[in-house]
Amino acid sequence: MAGSLRKNSYNRAALRIAQHLAPSNAIVEIIELDNIPLYNQDLDTQMPPPVLEFKKKIVAADAILVATPEYNHSISGVLKNAIDWASRPYGKSSWDSKPVAIMGASSGTIGTARAQEHLRQIFGTLNMHPLNRPQLLIASSTEKFDKDGNLIDERTKVKMKELMEALVDWTIRLNNKK
Ligand code: FNR
Repeated sequence: MAGSLRKNSYNRAALRIAQHLAPSNAIVEIIELDNIPLYNQDLDTQMPPPVLEFKKKIVAADAILVATPEYNHSISGVLKNAIDWASRPYGKSSWDSKPVAIMGASSGTIGTARAQEHLRQIFGTLNMHPLNRPQLLIASSTEKFDKDGNLIDERTKVKMKELMEALVDWTIRLNNKK
């Protein structure tokens, strides 16, 4: 999932590219967050259908891949909102024990480094298992993608492929330990 709803979002583009760079034993399904309403704790006992659908997809996934933008040195409200929903109701989080990889694209020069650190903190709280390496920070995104959202930077492409391979390996390792 990507933490941006923007049509020409670099992070959404990055996810589409990751779909193609993933190893052949993995399927990357993109989850859109457009229809997730704002979180309201009153609805924990009667969650809106798009949220239930979202939670179902998270539970079914072997691993999670997040493409995060950086908004004001943190993650976007869109992403935090979706994470919060799926962490509820209390004791029924959909995130528990999931392997997760993070990547992020921003127009800034440190490519979502601060947002990614915040995400790692959140994933710790959710008892998820974030992949530590490689890190994928797509800085100066306007130069790394063309106007159609194609990744034109070869080094980023190689890193993204490495990230996808590492996430699959990490997922298999964690599953074997169960
Ligand atoms: C930004 N942007 C941004 N970039 C960055 O590197 N550090 C930051 O703190 C911020 N802060 C920020 C706040 C808000 C509200 C917006 C809208 C944007 C720029 C941001 O990286 C850029 O718009 C990306 O293109 C957003 O990601 P998507 O939508 O292309 O996936």
